[in-house]
Amino acid sequence: MKVPYLDLKRQYVTIKDEINNAIQSTIDSCAFVAGDKVKKFEENFAAYCGTKYAIGVSCGTSALYVALRTLAIGKGDIVVTVPYTFIATVEAITMTGARPVFIDIEKDSYNISIAKLIQYIEKSCTRNASDNTLVDKQTGLRVRAIIPVHLYGQMSDMDEIMAIAQEYNLLVLEDAAQAHGAVYKNQKAGTIGKIGIFSFYPSKNLGAFGQGGAVLTSDERIAERTRQFINHGQTGKYAHAFEGWNFKMDGFQAAILDTKLKHLDAWNQARQKNAEQYRGLLSGLDGIVLPANMPDRDHVYHLFVIRVEDRPSLQGYLEQQGIGFTIAYPVPLHMQGAYKHLGYAQGDFPNAEKCAEGVIALPIFPELTEKEITQVGATIKAWVQSTK
Ligand SMILES: Cc1ncc(COP(=O)(O)O)c(C=O)c1O
Repeated sequence: MKVPYLDLKRQYVTIKDEINNAIQSTIDSCAFVAGDKVKKFEENFAAYCGTKYAIGVSCGTSALYVALRTLAIGKGDIVVTVPYTFIATVEAITMTGARPVFIDIEKDSYNISIAKLIQYIEKSCTRNASDNTLVDKQTGLRVRAIIPVHLYGQMSDMDEIMAIAQEYNLLVLEDAAQAHGAVYKNQKAGTIGKIGIFSFYPSKNLGAFGQGGAVLTSDERIAERTRQFINHGQTGKYAHAFEGWNFKMDGFQAAILDTKLKHLDAWNQARQKNAEQYRGLLSGLDGIVLPANMPDRDHVYHLFVIRVEDRPSLQGYLEQQGIGFTIAYPVPLHMQGAYKHLGYAQGDFPNAEKCAEGVIALPIFPELTEKEITQVGATIKAWVQSTK
């Protein structure tokens, strides 16, 4: 039996009528860009996450860029983030004119290492006592913000991050592109930092039928500024107080997302159930490192990622047996050509590098059957035995 890595069609057929109605209703209303469909989704998504404002945008990458611009981050600033994320997190920093500084991830959670973050601040920065700003000693640039990425669907250690941010007067922008509905101590992803962003890329836990993203905040001024920025800096009809861009959300995507939002908790629970089945099948198998469930967190398993020593061998075996998988991410960002100019070298971020070498994501989508998961588990077990 073949098992696909992801099959979006299976989800669509379970809610076909609802989706088709949402599409037809968008056509009937002609609310194609921004408009009522977007407004309704924004209200419902903000309420679901437990924050005041959600602003729909064109994709997660634009959400990150808009958020940074709204926080007035740009040339002369440093934004601290991880080298083990999708490139969009870092592209957005660079696009503003700011400079990214990488902090290694933790070896178990795969999220930003608090110890390494403190080490960077204490060893590589100085505090300017007159205005309480943090300055990077090597570049002389001002450290302005931290972007924790809630990788694979599990939130970063937000208490620690918020405490560091408060101590050093830093802004926190949560990249929750992979963590719709994930929880840290009763608070949902995207609602703890000053701003949180989401992607609704089709494969995400809440996915559009195209591209989409959102900016979340409880700060009215930031919400207002974000709305203006994504609409060419418009403060009134053809009144442009500043230059922005066109990052507005599409009406069809909003209507579809609003329909799918009602199912998000059930889908996340199905992912969690699938993850538990994998744990039962794979725990104790020699050389298989399972994803860690960190305390105080509700992991929503955007991806179910295991780690092995000889990944090429497992890849070959899975391919041969017709089991789908993906590798997110095979090369950490500090080793990518795009960031050569930052001057990092191999060995600078050992945990990110170890992950890049060994991670492999198994099928986890909500509609997988028990039989399929059993098949994946049995295949991995057979591979482990074949390597002895
Ligand atoms: C962590 C992270 N940040 C940002 C993005 C960018 O989102 P989008 O593809 O919607 O632009 C993604 C999307 O894959 C992501 O995984």
